[in-house]
Amino acid sequence: MSNHWSQYIQSAEELYRSRALRFHAGNRALWLRAIGAAEGMDVLEVGCGSGYFCHHFAEHLPGTRVTGLDADAGFIAYAKAKAAELALPCDFVQGDALATPFGENSFDLCFSHTVIEHLPTQPFLLEQKRVLRPGGRIAVLSVRTNASLPEHGMDGASPEELALWERLWRAGEGKLPLQVCAYPLEEREFPLALTAAGFRKVDVQFFCVSSYAPDSPQVPPAMALEQMEVERLGCVESVAKSTRLAPDALQPKERERLLTLLHARFDDRVEAWRRGEQRWDLTAKLMLAATGVK
Ligand SMILES: C[S@@+](CC[C@H](N)C(=O)[O-])C[C@H]1O[C@@H](n2cnc3c(N)ncnc32)[C@H](O)[C@@H]1O
Repeated sequence: MSNHWSQYIQSAEELYRSRALRFHAGNRALWLRAIGAAEGMDVLEVGCGSGYFCHHFAEHLPGTRVTGLDADAGFIAYAKAKAAELALPCDFVQGDALATPFGENSFDLCFSHTVIEHLPTQPFLLEQKRVLRPGGRIAVLSVRTNASLPEHGMDGASPEELALWERLWRAGEGKLPLQVCAYPLEEREFPLALTAAGFRKVDVQFFCVSSYAPDSPQVPPAMALEQMEVERLGCVESVAKSTRLAPDALQPKERERLLTLLHARFDDRVEAWRRGEQRWDLTAKLMLAATGVK
């Protein structure tokens, strides 16, 4: 157990705000239906990160009892603090998805989003089957990165900025203290794996979430601003995370210069949006939702 994920991969805030952009009021009915979540359920989110989905279930599905489990102490602390701030009744537990502290037949729904690819498939599924009640559902969400539109975090970066990024990233190569995406699955392997784990009524659905389209008239101004600010946050956090991995890659002055350049770039993007200058940078992700019944 550690806080490696929140230190080196995605910070708690970055994760939380990016999920809020992917899964919002506009597509809530779609994805809650896809995973089979309903009011009054006992829900376990496995690999809950900083807790966005748990908070979402507690807020929008009355009577739901929600538990989030994650290995990362930083995420669990953030999720607990945010639940307290929002006055949402969720429990958060630091633990291992492959050996949870819960008894058999404890939950009606086990949910995960972008977790399965990081863990051995069958142990991951079988532990959820163990804690599900008979008739309970598993819902595994996975982003199909081979079928997603690109991110725009580096749009418009100058050669000077790109050169600083290159040095920072190159110096950190091979230094991650944890394995990410060590167990990738192809689309057809999801239903096959659920069936092999003994789930019934196995199904796979796809839906698309657009998390970045600031010029779209369907995106309210506050959300458009948040979309650009989350892109900015991703870049700022990337400097911090890469510096943790390779503290000597850039001199402090160079690091400051990189931050200045990236802030100027995002300020320019926001200003263009305020002026009504449309750039139509867009991001969307194809989601796979694999479900089954115990
Ligand atoms: C890509 S993040 C997704 C987090 C969250 N589901 C979300 O989408 O916001 C993957 C998560 O899996 C967690 N994780 C990885 N291995 C784990 C394990 N063995 N037990 C529990 N959590 C684990 C990480 O700490 C991280 O929070």
